[in-house]
Amino acid sequence: MSSFSTPLSRRLGLRYPIVCAPMFLISNKEMIVACAEAGILGAMPSLNARTLEGLRADLEWIRARTSGPFAINLTIGLTDPARLEGDVALCEEFEVPVWLTSYGDPTALVARARARGATVFHDVTQLRHAKKAEAAGVDGIIGVAAGAGGHAGVISPFALVPYLTQNLDVPVIAAGCISSGRQIVAALALGAELTYLGTRFIPSAECGAPPAYKEQVVAAGPEDIVYTDKVSGIHANFLRSTLPDDWTPDRTPEGAKRWKEIWSAGQGVAEIHEQQTVAEIVEQLVREYHDAVAALPR
Ligand SMILES: Cc1cc2nc3c(=O)[nH]c(=O)nc-3n(C[C@H](O)[C@H](O)[C@H](O)COP(=O)(O)O)c2cc1C
Repeated sequence: MSSFSTPLSRRLGLRYPIVCAPMFLISNKEMIVACAEAGILGAMPSLNARTLEGLRADLEWIRARTSGPFAINLTIGLTDPARLEGDVALCEEFEVPVWLTSYGDPTALVARARARGATVFHDVTQLRHAKKAEAAGVDGIIGVAAGAGGHAGVISPFALVPYLTQNLDVPVIAAGCISSGRQIVAALALGAELTYLGTRFIPSAECGAPPAYKEQVVAAGPEDIVYTDKVSGIHANFLRSTLPDDWTPDRTPEGAKRWKEIWSAGQGVAEIHEQQTVAEIVEQLVREYHDAVAALPR
């Protein structure tokens, strides 16, 4: 399948400008290696390894299996400071090529990444935070739009991506509601240099999500996604079916464990129709991309 690229994807050594985005609890080392082999950038939150020893073992496992680029997500404000320091030290030791920072000020991490030749992308939902991160020296901004899986923003991807590209000097990575090759074409047309797909990879064979979670992502439509801050304290999108029957978006659901039993997914579920391996998903996205480009009106 012929590759396609952007300046940023070429700089990272990717065959395609696609990132398999980090997902709390369910991204894993198997996805990272499968992504590297498929020519895209795999990622996981450092916290998906319960302990520092676990993260070290995961990084050793990845390094033994691929020389391709991959990313680790450091959730600055959501991570205990001692754990964060340990995670960063491991990213330095294993020369993790891409650091994805979110929920906090990336300034200190940028300096440490620079010293190791690593690339830093920072996750935002609005221009104000993007500007701060740009001033801190990050290499790119991940713009998380409305409808994204996980902690989503409120700005439509149609507005957010060009708004960020026009107002920033660093490259923009489009996140939210991208689950097909056609949507990758759209994101690149809007000016993004990488596309950041989470929900699309939940029903991958390698993903650590429970089987019922994968089935529900395949079965769901965008109407089945609810946006609320009552589950995690920060606005995020969840599968309606995993919330109590009598629940309304203004109420904290009792009992069920957030993320573990109340499952997150984005409106991009609309474009997901089967469970596949990471390699099959990438192959399909690339085929759809080329078909969509060829079918554009001239
Ligand atoms: C289940 C789930 C967990 C997520 N956890 C994280 C996380 O720990 N850190 C993070 O930066 N983003 C997290 N995200 C957001 C993704 O990295 C990405 O921005 C998002 O999935 C893109 O939107 P999409 O799901 O519409 O493709 C999560 C998303 C999902 C679906």
